[in-house]
Amino acid sequence: MNTRLKSPEIKFPAEYEAEVQSASSFMDRRRFMNYSGWVGILGSLAISLLGFLRFMFPRVLFEPASTFKAGKPSDYAVGTVDTRFALSHRVWIIREERGFYALSAICTHLGCTPKWFANEDKFKCSCHGSGFKRSGFNFEGPAPRALDRFKIVLGEDGEMVVDRGKDFRLERGEWTKPEAYLFI
Ligand code: FES
Repeated sequence: MNTRLKSPEIKFPAEYEAEVQSASSFMDRRRFMNYSGWVGILGSLAISLLGFLRFMFPRVLFEPASTFKAGKPSDYAVGTVDTRFALSHRVWIIREERGFYALSAICTHLGCTPKWFANEDKFKCSCHGSGFKRSGFNFEGPAPRALDRFKIVLGEDGEMVVDRGKDFRLERGEWTKPEAYLFI
């Protein structure tokens, strides 16, 4: 047997109907105002919390380290343009009879990555057609200057180390500086 009591339905006389309606809509408005007040407070708290989290965990851009090992000189055949680091570090290693230089694989026009065409002995940028000689010198297209060279030295373990954080520009007369070329 159900022992719960039902609340009696209150009947108001017909002449109070308008007042009852108005009181009920007033209560609805009040409930709505309470509700929106809480939504506003919770919204501000959420925004403050997000700001706090952003402060505690700032956005950090993880980029590959500027320095990388490029293997032993004996890993390279004389006369080759080596593309093994072109994707990972955007660097070509060029092996000559007397030594090495590390050439930037970033087009000096708008930063695309040119490709090495061994049969034409040149780098060609497909974005706007700039061409660079094996030395990095720009000779066609809109590129305003030669490709950069990066610091390349021989580490104590016998491996070559390239530092993309230190560049050498032809236009500044820096290609002849000691660390722009590794003599073997
Ligand atoms: Fe290489 Fe424009 S980015 S030619």
